[in-house]
Amino acid sequence: MNVAVLPGDGIGPEIIAQARRVLDRLGLKITFHEAPVGGAAFERHGDPLPSETLKVAKQADAVLFGAVGDPRYDKLERAKRPEQAILGLRKELGLFANLRPARVHPELADSSTLKPEVVSGLDILIIRELTGDIYFGQPKGIRSRQGRHGQEREGFDTMLYSESEVRRIARVAFEAARKRNRRVCSVDKANVLETSQLWREVLIEESKTYSEVELTHMYVDNCAMQLVRNPKQFDVIVTGNMFGDILSDEASMLTGSIGMLPSAALDEKGKGLYEPIHGTAPDIAGKGIANPLATILSAALMLRYSLGQPQAAERIEKAVSKVLQSGLRTADIHTAGTRKVGTKEMGDAVVAAL
Ligand code: IPM
Ligand code: MG
Repeated sequence: MNVAVLPGDGIGPEIIAQARRVLDRLGLKITFHEAPVGGAAFERHGDPLPSETLKVAKQADAVLFGAVGDPRYDKLERAKRPEQAILGLRKELGLFANLRPARVHPELADSSTLKPEVVSGLDILIIRELTGDIYFGQPKGIRSRQGRHGQEREGFDTMLYSESEVRRIARVAFEAARKRNRRVCSVDKANVLETSQLWREVLIEESKTYSEVELTHMYVDNCAMQLVRNPKQFDVIVTGNMFGDILSDEASMLTGSIGMLPSAALDEKGKGLYEPIHGTAPDIAGKGIANPLATILSAALMLRYSLGQPQAAERIEKAVSKVLQSGLRTADIHTAGTRKVGTKEMGDAVVAAL
Protein backbone atom coordinates (compact mmCIF):
# COMPACT_ATOMS: atom_id res chain seq x y z
CA MET A 1 0.00 0.00 0.00
CA ASN A 2 1.32 3.41 -0.97
CA VAL A 3 0.30 6.37 1.11
CA ALA A 4 1.16 9.98 0.32
CA VAL A 5 1.73 11.98 3.48
CA LEU A 6 1.26 15.73 3.21
CA PRO A 7 1.78 17.37 6.63
CA GLY A 8 1.33 21.02 5.56
CA ASP A 9 1.41 24.00 7.91
CA GLY A 10 0.90 24.98 11.53
CA ILE A 11 0.11 21.99 13.71
CA GLY A 12 -0.01 19.76 10.58
CA PRO A 13 3.46 18.21 10.97
CA GLU A 14 2.95 17.54 14.72
CA ILE A 15 -0.34 15.72 14.36
CA ILE A 16 0.72 13.82 11.24
CA ALA A 17 3.80 12.56 13.10
CA GLN A 18 1.56 10.92 15.70
CA ALA A 19 -0.71 9.36 13.07
CA ARG A 20 2.38 7.94 11.36
CA ARG A 21 3.52 6.33 14.61
CA VAL A 22 0.11 4.76 15.09
CA LEU A 23 0.10 3.39 11.53
CA ASP A 24 3.66 2.06 11.97
CA ARG A 25 2.60 0.25 15.12
CA LEU A 26 0.01 -1.75 13.18
CA GLY A 27 2.81 -3.51 11.31
CA LEU A 28 1.07 -3.31 7.93
CA LYS A 29 2.99 -3.12 4.69
CA ILE A 30 2.55 0.57 4.00
CA THR A 31 5.10 2.68 2.14
CA PHE A 32 4.89 6.36 2.97
CA HIS A 33 5.81 9.12 0.52
CA GLU A 34 6.05 12.47 2.24
CA ALA A 35 5.75 15.69 0.22
CA PRO A 36 5.44 19.40 1.03
CA VAL A 37 2.11 21.17 0.66
CA GLY A 38 0.55 24.55 1.52
CA GLY A 39 2.65 27.37 2.94
CA ALA A 40 5.49 24.93 3.60
CA ALA A 41 5.59 24.11 -0.12
CA PHE A 42 5.31 27.76 -1.09
CA GLU A 43 8.39 28.54 1.03
CA ARG A 44 10.45 25.89 -0.72
CA HIS A 45 9.05 25.83 -4.24
CA GLY A 46 7.04 29.05 -4.64
CA ASP A 47 3.90 26.95 -5.15
CA PRO A 48 1.45 25.64 -2.50
CA LEU A 49 0.84 22.53 -4.61
CA PRO A 50 4.07 21.72 -6.48
CA SER A 51 3.67 19.36 -9.45
CA GLU A 52 5.90 16.82 -7.70
CA THR A 53 3.53 16.78 -4.69
CA LEU A 54 0.51 16.38 -6.96
CA LYS A 55 2.28 13.48 -8.69
CA VAL A 56 2.99 11.76 -5.37
CA ALA A 57 -0.69 12.17 -4.41
CA LYS A 58 -1.93 10.88 -7.76
CA GLN A 59 0.29 7.80 -7.64
CA ALA A 60 -0.62 6.85 -4.07
CA ASP A 61 -3.50 4.58 -3.02
CA ALA A 62 -4.51 7.18 -0.45
CA VAL A 63 -3.43 10.55 0.88
CA LEU A 64 -3.00 11.41 4.54
CA PHE A 65 -3.22 15.16 4.90
CA GLY A 66 -2.47 17.46 7.85
CA ALA A 67 -3.70 21.01 7.34
CA VAL A 68 -2.84 24.07 5.26
CA GLY A 69 -3.08 27.79 5.90
CA ASP A 70 -1.08 30.45 7.66
CA PRO A 71 -2.00 34.07 8.33
CA ARG A 72 1.47 35.01 7.09
CA TYR A 73 0.24 34.37 3.56
CA ASP A 74 -3.03 36.31 3.82
CA LYS A 75 -1.69 39.05 1.55
CA LEU A 76 -0.57 36.72 -1.24
CA GLU A 77 -2.51 36.54 -4.50
CA ARG A 78 -5.06 33.75 -4.32
CA ALA A 79 -3.25 31.27 -6.57
CA LYS A 80 -0.28 31.22 -4.17
CA ARG A 81 -2.20 30.90 -0.93
CA PRO A 82 -1.87 27.65 1.04
CA GLU A 83 -5.63 26.91 0.78
CA GLN A 84 -5.23 26.46 -2.97
CA ALA A 85 -3.31 23.28 -2.25
CA ILE A 86 -6.24 21.44 -0.71
CA LEU A 87 -8.71 22.85 -3.24
CA GLY A 88 -6.36 21.81 -6.07
CA LEU A 89 -5.92 18.31 -4.65
CA ARG A 90 -9.66 17.82 -4.31
CA LYS A 91 -10.27 18.95 -7.88
CA GLU A 92 -7.28 17.18 -9.48
CA LEU A 93 -7.99 13.89 -7.72
CA GLY A 94 -11.75 14.12 -8.29
CA LEU A 95 -12.49 13.85 -4.56
CA PHE A 96 -16.12 14.84 -4.80
CA ALA A 97 -17.53 13.11 -1.73
CA ASN A 98 -16.55 14.44 1.65
CA LEU A 99 -17.63 12.37 4.64
CA ARG A 100 -17.56 14.27 7.89
CA PRO A 101 -18.90 12.19 10.74
CA ALA A 102 -19.79 13.96 13.99
CA ARG A 103 -19.92 11.35 16.72
CA VAL A 104 -19.82 12.04 20.43
CA HIS A 105 -17.46 9.76 22.32
CA PRO A 106 -19.34 8.88 25.53
CA GLU A 107 -16.33 10.06 27.55
CA LEU A 108 -16.51 13.52 26.01
CA ALA A 109 -20.19 14.42 26.40
CA ASP A 110 -19.13 16.88 29.11
CA SER A 111 -16.64 18.64 26.84
CA SER A 112 -19.37 19.96 24.57
CA THR A 113 -20.62 23.48 25.13
CA LEU A 114 -24.13 22.04 24.82
CA LYS A 115 -25.90 20.17 27.60
CA PRO A 116 -24.81 16.51 27.80
CA GLU A 117 -28.40 15.28 27.24
CA VAL A 118 -28.56 17.18 23.95
CA VAL A 119 -25.39 15.62 22.56
CA SER A 120 -24.75 12.30 24.30
CA GLY A 121 -25.07 9.42 21.86
CA LEU A 122 -24.98 11.78 18.89
CA ASP A 123 -23.93 10.12 15.64
CA ILE A 124 -24.46 12.08 12.46
CA LEU A 125 -22.74 11.90 9.11
CA ILE A 126 -22.40 15.04 7.06
CA ILE A 127 -21.81 14.37 3.40
CA ARG A 128 -20.48 17.45 1.70
CA GLU A 129 -20.11 17.74 -2.05
CA LEU A 130 -16.50 18.81 -2.51
CA THR A 131 -15.61 19.70 -6.09
CA GLY A 132 -18.47 21.93 -7.25
CA ASP A 133 -20.57 24.84 -6.05
CA ILE A 134 -19.45 28.42 -5.54
CA TYR A 135 -15.98 27.12 -4.60
CA PHE A 136 -15.25 26.21 -8.20
CA GLY A 137 -17.84 28.15 -10.22
CA GLN A 138 -16.74 30.18 -13.22
CA PRO A 139 -16.64 33.06 -13.83
CA LYS A 140 -15.13 34.55 -10.71
CA GLY A 141 -13.05 37.59 -10.08
CA ILE A 142 -13.01 41.26 -9.23
CA ARG A 143 -13.91 43.73 -11.96
CA SER A 144 -14.49 47.39 -12.28
CA ARG A 145 -17.84 48.80 -13.28
CA GLN A 146 -19.96 51.86 -13.32
CA GLY A 147 -21.96 51.79 -10.10
CA ARG A 148 -24.35 54.24 -8.50
CA HIS A 149 -21.43 56.01 -6.88
CA GLY A 150 -19.23 56.12 -9.97
CA GLN A 151 -16.61 53.63 -11.03
CA GLU A 152 -16.23 50.90 -8.41
CA ARG A 153 -14.87 47.39 -7.92
CA GLU A 154 -17.21 44.43 -7.89
CA GLY A 155 -16.38 40.91 -6.66
CA PHE A 156 -18.24 37.96 -8.11
CA ASP A 157 -18.38 34.20 -7.77
CA THR A 158 -20.67 31.78 -9.52
CA MET A 159 -22.68 29.12 -7.76
CA LEU A 160 -23.04 26.20 -10.10
CA TYR A 161 -24.14 22.58 -9.88
CA SER A 162 -24.74 20.22 -12.75
CA GLU A 163 -27.33 17.50 -12.54
CA SER A 164 -24.70 14.74 -12.71
CA GLU A 165 -22.70 16.29 -9.88
CA VAL A 166 -25.78 16.35 -7.67
CA ARG A 167 -26.78 12.85 -8.66
CA ARG A 168 -23.49 11.23 -7.73
CA ILE A 169 -23.32 12.86 -4.29
CA ALA A 170 -26.98 11.97 -3.72
CA ARG A 171 -26.10 8.32 -4.34
CA VAL A 172 -23.24 8.46 -1.86
CA ALA A 173 -25.67 9.81 0.73
CA PHE A 174 -28.36 7.20 0.10
CA GLU A 175 -25.82 4.36 0.10
CA ALA A 176 -24.38 5.61 3.39
CA ALA A 177 -27.84 5.96 4.94
CA ARG A 178 -28.66 2.39 3.96
CA LYS A 179 -25.90 1.19 6.25
CA ARG A 180 -27.03 3.50 9.06
CA ASN A 181 -30.48 4.65 10.20
CA ARG A 182 -31.84 5.08 6.67
CA ARG A 183 -32.61 8.78 6.89
CA VAL A 184 -31.19 11.47 4.61
CA CYS A 185 -31.76 15.14 5.22
CA SER A 186 -30.83 17.20 2.18
CA VAL A 187 -29.85 20.75 3.05
CA ASP A 188 -30.24 23.57 0.54
CA LYS A 189 -31.56 27.09 0.07
CA ALA A 190 -34.20 26.21 -2.49
CA ASN A 191 -36.40 29.13 -1.45
CA VAL A 192 -33.80 31.48 -2.93
CA LEU A 193 -31.27 29.73 -5.15
CA GLU A 194 -31.75 28.09 -8.55
CA THR A 195 -28.86 25.69 -7.89
CA SER A 196 -30.69 24.53 -4.78
CA GLN A 197 -33.91 24.09 -6.72
CA LEU A 198 -32.14 21.73 -9.12
CA TRP A 199 -30.37 20.05 -6.20
CA ARG A 200 -33.70 19.32 -4.55
CA GLU A 201 -35.30 17.98 -7.75
CA VAL A 202 -32.40 15.62 -8.39
CA LEU A 203 -32.40 14.40 -4.78
CA ILE A 204 -36.09 13.56 -5.09
CA GLU A 205 -35.50 11.73 -8.38
CA GLU A 206 -32.61 9.70 -6.97
CA SER A 207 -34.52 8.85 -3.80
CA LYS A 208 -36.94 6.76 -5.89
CA THR A 209 -34.21 4.11 -6.29
CA TYR A 210 -33.76 4.01 -2.52
CA SER A 211 -37.28 3.47 -1.27
CA GLU A 212 -36.06 2.14 2.09
CA VAL A 213 -34.36 5.46 2.84
CA GLU A 214 -36.43 8.41 4.05
CA LEU A 215 -35.57 11.71 2.37
CA THR A 216 -36.37 15.06 3.97
CA HIS A 217 -35.34 18.59 2.98
CA MET A 218 -34.26 21.48 5.12
CA TYR A 219 -33.15 25.03 4.41
CA VAL A 220 -29.61 25.69 5.48
CA ASP A 221 -30.46 28.44 7.96
CA ASN A 222 -32.97 26.19 9.69
CA CYS A 223 -30.43 23.35 9.69
CA ALA A 224 -27.85 25.57 11.39
CA MET A 225 -30.43 26.23 14.09
CA GLN A 226 -31.65 22.61 14.38
CA LEU A 227 -28.07 21.39 14.81
CA VAL A 228 -27.81 23.18 18.13
CA ARG A 229 -31.46 22.80 19.12
CA ASN A 230 -31.83 19.06 18.61
CA PRO A 231 -28.89 17.51 16.73
CA LYS A 232 -29.98 13.93 17.38
CA GLN A 233 -32.84 14.31 14.89
CA PHE A 234 -30.27 13.83 12.08
CA ASP A 235 -28.79 10.67 10.60
CA VAL A 236 -27.17 11.60 7.26
CA ILE A 237 -27.05 15.22 6.11
CA VAL A 238 -26.17 15.77 2.44
CA THR A 239 -25.37 19.23 1.19
CA GLY A 240 -23.29 21.30 -1.20
CA ASN A 241 -19.71 22.44 -0.83
CA MET A 242 -20.28 25.82 0.81
CA PHE A 243 -23.13 24.86 3.17
CA GLY A 244 -21.26 21.67 4.07
CA ASP A 245 -18.15 23.64 4.97
CA ILE A 246 -20.10 25.77 7.42
CA LEU A 247 -22.40 23.10 8.88
CA SER A 248 -19.57 20.62 9.45
CA ASP A 249 -17.64 23.13 11.54
CA GLU A 250 -20.80 23.76 13.54
CA ALA A 251 -21.49 20.04 13.98
CA SER A 252 -17.94 19.40 15.11
CA MET A 253 -18.43 21.51 18.20
CA LEU A 254 -21.38 19.35 19.26
CA THR A 255 -18.82 16.63 19.86
CA GLY A 256 -16.75 18.68 22.27
CA SER A 257 -13.90 19.70 20.05
CA ILE A 258 -13.08 20.18 16.42
CA GLY A 259 -9.83 18.47 17.40
CA MET A 260 -11.60 15.10 17.49
CA LEU A 261 -13.14 14.86 14.03
CA PRO A 262 -11.69 12.95 11.09
CA SER A 263 -12.83 13.23 7.50
CA ALA A 264 -12.57 11.40 4.22
CA ALA A 265 -12.73 12.84 0.71
CA LEU A 266 -13.40 10.12 -1.84
CA ASP A 267 -13.31 9.81 -5.59
CA GLU A 268 -15.59 7.59 -7.65
CA LYS A 269 -13.39 4.53 -7.13
CA GLY A 270 -12.84 4.85 -3.38
CA LYS A 271 -9.42 6.44 -3.49
CA GLY A 272 -9.35 9.11 -0.87
CA LEU A 273 -7.70 11.94 0.95
CA TYR A 274 -7.98 11.81 4.73
CA GLU A 275 -7.62 14.81 6.97
CA PRO A 276 -8.76 16.17 10.30
CA ILE A 277 -11.56 18.66 9.75
CA HIS A 278 -9.75 21.30 11.79
CA GLY A 279 -7.22 23.74 10.39
CA THR A 280 -3.62 24.65 11.14
CA ALA A 281 -4.27 26.35 14.51
CA PRO A 282 -1.35 28.80 14.10
CA ASP A 283 -1.84 30.04 17.68
CA ILE A 284 -0.73 26.71 19.14
CA ALA A 285 1.57 25.47 16.35
CA GLY A 286 4.93 24.16 17.52
CA LYS A 287 3.88 24.06 21.17
CA GLY A 288 3.27 20.33 21.27
CA ILE A 289 -0.24 20.70 22.68
CA ALA A 290 -2.46 20.06 19.63
CA ASN A 291 -4.88 17.16 19.71
CA PRO A 292 -3.66 14.45 17.29
CA LEU A 293 -6.81 12.31 17.61
CA ALA A 294 -8.67 13.73 14.59
CA THR A 295 -5.68 12.84 12.42
CA ILE A 296 -5.23 9.43 14.02
CA LEU A 297 -8.94 8.75 13.42
CA SER A 298 -8.52 9.99 9.83
CA ALA A 299 -5.82 7.35 9.39
CA ALA A 300 -8.40 4.80 10.59
CA LEU A 301 -10.88 6.01 7.95
CA MET A 302 -8.11 5.65 5.36
CA LEU A 303 -7.54 2.03 6.33
CA ARG A 304 -11.27 1.36 6.10
CA TYR A 305 -12.25 3.18 2.91
CA SER A 306 -9.14 3.14 0.70
CA LEU A 307 -6.82 0.39 1.92
CA GLY A 308 -9.28 -2.42 2.60
CA GLN A 309 -8.18 -2.87 6.23
CA PRO A 310 -11.38 -2.50 8.27
CA GLN A 311 -10.02 -4.49 11.21
CA ALA A 312 -6.97 -2.27 11.52
CA ALA A 313 -9.30 0.75 11.39
CA GLU A 314 -11.34 -0.66 14.22
CA ARG A 315 -8.22 -1.35 16.27
CA ILE A 316 -7.25 2.31 16.04
CA GLU A 317 -10.75 3.50 16.94
CA LYS A 318 -10.86 1.17 19.94
CA ALA A 319 -7.42 2.30 21.06
CA VAL A 320 -8.58 5.93 20.93
CA SER A 321 -11.67 5.09 23.01
CA LYS A 322 -9.52 3.28 25.52
CA VAL A 323 -7.19 6.25 25.88
CA LEU A 324 -10.16 8.57 26.41
CA GLN A 325 -11.60 6.17 28.97
CA SER A 326 -8.30 6.22 30.82
CA GLY A 327 -8.82 9.97 31.31
CA LEU A 328 -6.10 11.44 29.09
CA ARG A 329 -7.05 14.71 27.43
CA THR A 330 -5.31 17.30 25.29
CA ALA A 331 -6.03 20.91 26.24
CA ASP A 332 -8.98 21.29 23.84
CA ILE A 333 -10.97 18.51 25.52
CA HIS A 334 -9.62 18.87 29.04
CA THR A 335 -12.19 19.00 31.85
CA ALA A 336 -11.95 18.77 35.63
CA GLY A 337 -10.90 15.33 36.83
CA THR A 338 -9.05 14.35 33.65
CA ARG A 339 -5.32 14.44 32.95
CA LYS A 340 -3.98 17.03 30.56
CA VAL A 341 -1.38 15.75 28.10
CA GLY A 342 0.46 17.05 25.04
CA THR A 343 0.43 15.89 21.43
CA LYS A 344 3.22 13.34 21.78
CA GLU A 345 1.94 11.88 25.04
CA MET A 346 -1.45 11.39 23.41
CA GLY A 347 0.24 9.61 20.51
CA ASP A 348 2.26 7.49 22.97
CA ALA A 349 -0.96 6.48 24.73
CA VAL A 350 -2.70 5.40 21.51
CA VAL A 351 0.38 3.41 20.45
CA ALA A 352 0.48 1.77 23.89
CA ALA A 353 -3.24 0.94 23.73
CA LEU A 354 -2.69 -0.72 20.36
C1 IPM B 1 -12.31 22.73 5.03
C2 IPM B 1 -11.58 24.05 4.96
C3 IPM B 1 -11.29 24.39 3.51
C4 IPM B 1 -12.64 24.53 2.82
C5 IPM B 1 -10.40 25.61 3.29
C6 IPM B 1 -9.06 25.46 3.98
C7 IPM B 1 -10.20 25.94 1.84
O1 IPM B 1 -12.30 25.04 5.60
O2 IPM B 1 -11.75 21.73 4.58
O3 IPM B 1 -13.42 22.72 5.54
O4 IPM B 1 -13.24 25.61 2.85
O5 IPM B 1 -13.08 23.56 2.23
MG1 MG C 1 -14.01 24.34 6.62
